[in-house]
Amino acid sequence: MGESDTALAPAKINLVLEVGARRPDGYHELATVFQSIGLYDRVTISPSETHGELVVSGPQQALGELGDYRRNLAWQAAELIAEATGRADPGVHIHLEKNIPVSAGLGGGSSDAAAVLRVLARRWGVDDRGLLFRLASELGSDVPFFLMRGTALGRGRGEILSPLCLPRMWVVLANPGVACSTATVYSRFAASGTASTGMLGERCQETVQVLCTQGPAAVGRGWCNDLADAARSEVPGIDSLLGAFYDLGALGAQVSGSGATVFAVARDADHAESLWRQIAARAAWSWWGSTESEGGEADG
Ligand code: C5P
Repeated sequence: MGESDTALAPAKINLVLEVGARRPDGYHELATVFQSIGLYDRVTISPSETHGELVVSGPQQALGELGDYRRNLAWQAAELIAEATGRADPGVHIHLEKNIPVSAGLGGGSSDAAAVLRVLARRWGVDDRGLLFRLASELGSDVPFFLMRGTALGRGRGEILSPLCLPRMWVVLANPGVACSTATVYSRFAASGTASTGMLGERCQETVQVLCTQGPAAVGRGWCNDLADAARSEVPGIDSLLGAFYDLGALGAQVSGSGATVFAVARDADHAESLWRQIAARAAWSWWGSTESEGGEADG
């Protein structure tokens, strides 16, 4: 192996998240519109003389679960693809520059893991996309989406994907600074007994149609996330961010995934920047930028 490879690992938001009943395997059946955005972790992989290691730096370098690199999903991705291709160990040094907040509903860890799969597949000449998607879904429900990026409808537990095409949108993110466990939010949701018993996917379809034909202003307050109430009771700071975005004139606002990040949709780049300037003081972390188009941006 020669020099190092760098990949950009984008964050995602869920433009729609419909959640049904808990399945026998413990996961919830869902229908969601995944959308990758222009906020990136940077994943650099270089050769190592040893079995390899992973180091984390950057503004969102986390403590806790990222403390032992072997528990990091990106390292587990490297081990999984090494094993699947008959290697004793990954034999690579992985550097994660974390710009995406951790445990925030933005899929950062899943995206890092997908970036590792993509880069190692390229380095090792693995061109079996079916294998990559199988490994990705073994790692987590959101990981397969990050092999596609852009916009996609996710079904099953999130791993059954079909690409969608939406016009580019400008968004602002705000996070109250409290890590929010996905498993805990799903448990709260299950305990609330509010799981949808109807057909999943109708609200995804409606929102996509409105976005394509009339634009985000027409969605109004109709941005759907069935986990929002569970996330709001888990992290009370979410409510004031949602309220503030609407007061400030966002076209819409909703919790992303299991939270605690809130996304707001803006008219254009100027509007997004202006919303961001006003929300920044009220949030522990905030960002503005645009959605990614199909297939994502090129690696840096
Ligand atoms: O798949 P992943 O490991 O990212 O999921 C984290 C947790 O979120 C799961 O252990 C489960 O508790 C919950 N989850 C769920 N239904 C889904 C996705 C995740 O219950 N569709």
